[in-house]
Amino acid sequence: MTDSTKFWAVVPAAGVGKRMNADRPKQYLELADKAVIEHTLYRLLSAKVFEAVSVAISIEDPYWPELEVSKHPKVITAAGGKERADSVLSALKSIRALASDEDWVLVHDAARPCITATDIQFLIDSLRNDEVGGILALSSHDTLKDVDGKNILGTLDRSHIWRALTPQMFRYGSLKHALESAEGNPAITDEASALELQGLQPKIVEGRPDNIKITRPEDLALAQFYMEQQHD
Ligand code: CTP
Ligand code: MG
Repeated sequence: MTDSTKFWAVVPAAGVGKRMNADRPKQYLELADKAVIEHTLYRLLSAKVFEAVSVAISIEDPYWPELEVSKHPKVITAAGGKERADSVLSALKSIRALASDEDWVLVHDAARPCITATDIQFLIDSLRNDEVGGILALSSHDTLKDVDGKNILGTLDRSHIWRALTPQMFRYGSLKHALESAEGNPAITDEASALELQGLQPKIVEGRPDNIKITRPEDLALAQFYMEQQHD
């Protein structure tokens, strides 16, 4: 890695939050006096490693322009897409003229507001000399069952199973190429899966369990609890 290698953040924030079942997309729900996405973005900005943060926003989104953070000098607004991968690709394209292929991009869900500076730094320190890059992940504490309908077919070997979190950190050029090659493929639910389809093997870096994704209504209270416990 040369000294000129830069870091960029990409935040997909164009989802509707169907499972949350609220009156607005979950990234705009209030959590500890701010919208969820404000926590996420201010935490990324305060890490002080990113040249800019490109945020993919749905074109029909009336909430985003109302937030102060949308006008932050390091925040770029890109158009969201149909699937998460489309939103990420659009955000990557928005920094095409600024980023070089060797630069690192950290893709982080808007719906993960509890991300900490320690997790961001640990991911970067673990992967900055890696060829491919990788993701924050958590091992599973529960025994995992392979199920058909309601019938258990077997028990999975837990030591081989990890849960993918974000940020996911890859080089600009290879990430953009992998997402473009996989466009329209429903199996691409995170960035790592697009790189895997290219025959590459991203690394896992053990993340903190408080980096939850707000998905269902009960997750808001849990995120608030974690934030109250966090001092770093
Ligand atoms: N996302 C996006 N563009 C999409 C779909 C999702 O940018 N077309 C973003 C979401 O805003 C979120 C992240 O990707 O920050 C993770 O997606 P998920 O948790 O699935 O959010 P939603 O798709 O909004 O929620 P749901 O699946 O319950 O509708
Ligand atoms: Mg979704």
